[in-house]
Amino acid sequence: MMMMKIFLRTGIALSLVLLICLALHLPAAYAQNKPSRTPDIYFVPTPHDVVDVMLRLADVKKNDIVYDLGCGDGRIVIAAAKKAGARAFGFDIDPEMVETSRANVKKAGVENLVTIAEKDIFELDLRKASVVTLYLLPELNVRLIPQLDKLKPGTRIVSHDFDMEGVIPEVEATVNRRDGSISMVYLWTTPLKKITGYTPDRRIEITSELR
Ligand SMILES: C[S@@+](CC[C@H](N)C(=O)[O-])C[C@H]1O[C@@H](n2cnc3c(N)ncnc32)[C@H](O)[C@@H]1O
Repeated sequence: MMMMKIFLRTGIALSLVLLICLALHLPAAYAQNKPSRTPDIYFVPTPHDVVDVMLRLADVKKNDIVYDLGCGDGRIVIAAAKKAGARAFGFDIDPEMVETSRANVKKAGVENLVTIAEKDIFELDLRKASVVTLYLLPELNVRLIPQLDKLKPGTRIVSHDFDMEGVIPEVEATVNRRDGSISMVYLWTTPLKKITGYTPDRRIEITSELR
């Protein structure tokens, strides 16, 4: 009987210690997996056939360095490494997406070529990239212009679905997808060509008369 009581008390004490440890540890674990700030857009994947078109339009080759800004599950950087043998870097602000990307990179066996980093894309120096891929929002593309302006000449930028107001794309591709839907892909090559105003087809002078 005495032994039974000791067992029970020890069990209860141990359970309490365990609960306290969990209570202390859980918020820290949760905080670790929360983005440092609200992401500018949540994860929506680019379909694989559209990823293929983006990499083809950007003419990604083995010697390229590809940056995917907001890499989600890592599909673009993984495809760049697998299909072209390029070195690729994926950046995402969401630690969960970073974890998912890293797991996918490992599954695809391209850890030697692909690096995933938890970063805010608006704080990145992009100058090492020779190809930049985007699937963000039109206003986020525009917010990136000061960073894209610093890219080396000849760097290709491809964006799924969204253009960049004020910058003339080199190619605007309509992608007729196998499932019947349509996606857009835009290509720019640096230096970016800005729309600097407008030029009319003809300039004429007219003297008015009162009739
Ligand atoms: C629409 S998804 C695109 C994912 C991937 N590039 C693709 O095309 O499949 C956008 C990603 O950007 C990330 N994101 C949003 N704001 C960000 C920021 N400021 N810095 C880094 N990543 C960001 C989101 O977490 C999300 O995974």
